[in-house]
Amino acid sequence: MSARPGVLVARAVFDDVVDRLRVHFDVETNPSDTPFSKAELIARLQGKRGALTTGSERIDAEVLGANPQLRVVSNIAVGYNNFDVAACDTHGVLATNTPDVLTETTADFGFALMMATARRIAESEHFLRRGEWNKWSLTMFAGADVHGATLGILGMGRIGQAIARRGAHGFGMKVIYHNRSRLDATTESALNARYVGKAELLQQADHLVLVLPYSAESHHAVGAAELALMKPTATLTNIARGGIVDDAALAQALAAGRIAAAGLDVYEGEPAVNPALLSVPNVVLTPHIASATIATRRAMANLAADNLIAGLGFGPDAGRPPTPINPGVLPLRP
Ligand code: GLV
Repeated sequence: MSARPGVLVARAVFDDVVDRLRVHFDVETNPSDTPFSKAELIARLQGKRGALTTGSERIDAEVLGANPQLRVVSNIAVGYNNFDVAACDTHGVLATNTPDVLTETTADFGFALMMATARRIAESEHFLRRGEWNKWSLTMFAGADVHGATLGILGMGRIGQAIARRGAHGFGMKVIYHNRSRLDATTESALNARYVGKAELLQQADHLVLVLPYSAESHHAVGAAELALMKPTATLTNIARGGIVDDAALAQALAAGRIAAAGLDVYEGEPAVNPALLSVPNVVLTPHIASATIATRRAMANLAADNLIAGLGFGPDAGRPPTPINPGVLPLRP
C-alpha cells in the first residue's frame, strides 16, 4: 500500500487543481465526468482518505459506513444538502464547502435571471428564432419593470444580500426580505432592506428571488399556497436548490397566469426537468449555472482543494481547513 493518502476527485476538475492534489496524495479522477452511481461511489472511495465532490455525489451514512477510513469530504459548492452532516459528525468525517468565492458571481446571475424573466427575454428570443416576428407592436412582449419595483428576497445570507445591494443601489428597488434571522440594523439600512413575514413577502414582492439553503424545513417553501399569495403580475426566480419550489405547482400557476413568469436555475430531481415546465412559455430555464464563470469555478475548485489538503493535514494550513462545515470533528481521528 502507498504511504501517500489516496483521494478521489469524483468529477472532472481543472488539471492544475488536480496537480495541486497530486503533490500530497495519490489521486483517482473521473475523466468521463459521469456521476457515479451510489455503488460505484462506495467502491471508488475504498481506501481513500478524502474526496472532492460536487452536488451530484450524496455522502450519507451508507457511503461513510462502507468507507470507515474516509476523513474529509470537500464539496465544490456552497450548498451541501448532498452531505448528511450528522452522519459525517458520527463518523468523524470533516465536511467542507466553498462559500464567499461565488457570492458576487451568483448574485450577478440571480439578478440577470430575474431581469430576463421580468423582461421576457428568453420567451421573445424563442419567438424570434421561430420566425414569428413579422411586425413591431406596442404591447409585444411587454413585461414588468425592474427599476423601482419591490424586490423580495427569501433567504438573506451572503448571496441574498449581494442581490439586495444590486437591486437597491443599482436599480432603485424597494427591498423586502424574509429569513430565519433578521439582519442587524446597520446591514438593513445599508441594503435599504425591510424585514417582513413570509406572507407579506409573497404578497408584496414584484420580483421574488429565492436564495435559501435546501433542508427538510425549506422543502416546498414555495408551493401552491404560497404562489396563490403572490401578485398575478409578479415573477419568481429560484437560484437556490431544487425542491424549495414545488415545480408541479409552479408549472400550473404559470399556465394559469397565477403569476406572470418564473426564472429557474435549479429543479426537483435535476438534471431531469418537470415536463410541465418545459411546455409553459413564461418560464426561463437554465441548467444550474448560477456560479458558472471560469474565474469563480476555478476559485471554487481551488478552495475545495485547499480544504482537502489542509483537512488531511498537509500544506501550510495543515489541520486548519479554510471553510469547514463541521469544525467540531477537528482534529481528525488518525
Ligand atoms: C451551487 O449550487 C452551489 O451550491 O455552489
